[in-house]
Amino acid sequence: MADLEFSNIYKHFNGVYALQNASFSCDRGEVHALLGENGAGKSTLIKILSGAYTADAGEIKLFGRKLGIRKPTDAMNCGIGTVYQELSTIPDLTVSENIFIGRIPQNKIGYFQKKKLYQMTAELFREYDVHDIDPDAPAYKLSLSKRQTVEIMRVLSKKPDVVILDEATSALTENKVRWLLSLARKLADENRIVIFISHRMAEIQEVCDNITILRNGMTVGEMNVKDVVMDKVISLMLGRKIEGYFPDVVNSVIDEKLLEVRNLTYTQILNSVSFDLYRGEVLGLGGLAGQGQAELLLAVFGIVRPKGEIKLDGEPHKIKTPQESLKKGIALVPEDRGAQGLLMSFPIGYNISLPSLKKMTNGPFLDKKKEKDTVSAYMNSLQIKAESSEMAVMNLSGGNQQKVVLAKMLATKPKLLLMHDITRGVDVGTKKEIFSLVRDLAKEGCGIIYFSTDIEELVNLCDRILVMYDGRIGAVLSGKDMTKENIVSASIGALP
Ligand SMILES: Nc1ncnc2c1ncn2[C@@H]1O[C@H](COP(=O)(O)OP(=O)(O)O)[C@@H](O)[C@H]1O
Ligand SMILES: [Mg+2]
Repeated sequence: MADLEFSNIYKHFNGVYALQNASFSCDRGEVHALLGENGAGKSTLIKILSGAYTADAGEIKLFGRKLGIRKPTDAMNCGIGTVYQELSTIPDLTVSENIFIGRIPQNKIGYFQKKKLYQMTAELFREYDVHDIDPDAPAYKLSLSKRQTVEIMRVLSKKPDVVILDEATSALTENKVRWLLSLARKLADENRIVIFISHRMAEIQEVCDNITILRNGMTVGEMNVKDVVMDKVISLMLGRKIEGYFPDVVNSVIDEKLLEVRNLTYTQILNSVSFDLYRGEVLGLGGLAGQGQAELLLAVFGIVRPKGEIKLDGEPHKIKTPQESLKKGIALVPEDRGAQGLLMSFPIGYNISLPSLKKMTNGPFLDKKKEKDTVSAYMNSLQIKAESSEMAVMNLSGGNQQKVVLAKMLATKPKLLLMHDITRGVDVGTKKEIFSLVRDLAKEGCGIIYFSTDIEELVNLCDRILVMYDGRIGAVLSGKDMTKENIVSASIGALP
């Protein structure tokens, strides 16, 4: 008998099955991957183990004992620790308060012991090789990657026997991904059970021992990682083969400058950045994460105010607020869809129509029908999988949430679309849809800045590529220079 066994788990939400007969098992000392398209049921399965949901049927056994988990604290008491897909650090608390929330040391008369708390965090960081985060820093000041690291530390501080990482690498920078992969291995070597959910096959092959593949809430395959044949895995995930992953790039660049950026400089982060973007162009933005790409997009959108000059359609573009940008036809798909992109507890429809409500009026009144039609048009064209537009965004799978962000931005009918790593944590099927959408928008004359940390996407989707390195544009690649080798060289500052 295996140390952890899920047998025939069922779970439905309002009559729609998220899990129907999902099973898998793993042992101590093992890193076990759960693989499947967005919406396959991976998060639901692990949320049952962590007590966030209860199963309709089926059973879970841990170390031979049937688990009767009813709430998250039960799971914690059984030694189960979960790093959820959506970040949940509390912005106003410090790093150490976030980690030890509910367990902050107090003295006899109830005063918080700040120094002790700091030491506990510092010790934890030493144990797990975290060197770049100040235990006293407020969480809102941290990058997405560091916040994710804090969440991982919160879970590990409880010394769980079972560690669940639900797409934890998708928010991490390249260095931190390396760190987490060796951490996962170390935890398994300490004889714990690690459940690892990721869409990145290379990571899975590097660190996992066994793989369970889910499709439509069902277990459709289990294999040892040594026996992985990529085509087989993908066809199991999709139940079909994906053809034409990247769309044909038909040059739609019009010889009209949409955006002119000159000498943008912002603290140490942007250093004299200059470039042009043409109508109908998909301009790739590459480089390692954290080289100024995020700030560049935020500067054009009006959230960050650097020195230098930006012109939109030949006119000086001096924007003070994102609202002004939206009015001028600029849209941003942001880095953190939770904090910046979506109102998680609000309905899908509300999220999609919010920024474009002004375009949906009938005289002074909101045209409800127009709003409804717009929402359903985008839900259809992007194939957002939900029972209705009334469903809260937080109940959607990660990929479908990403589509809601995109729908919301497309509904504003932008002429300039800024995209921040939109395919992060998104399954292959959804990626393919997003790629064709990007090219279709360009065909309609929209100018797009497409930031991606995935080199394949840059090479296969873009008309030109700017590679950023240390706040500067390290290389501008076009035509046959748009190779993976050139992007990698420029990313590490090795291209002349
Ligand atoms: N709280 C919920 N209410 C309604 N539907 C949900 C809820 N949580 C998940 N679902 C649905 O269950 C299915 C599986 O989702 P999920 O487990 O998040 O998939 P994955 O993690 O594999 O991407 C999806 O169709 C999703 O919309
Ligand atoms: Mg998920």
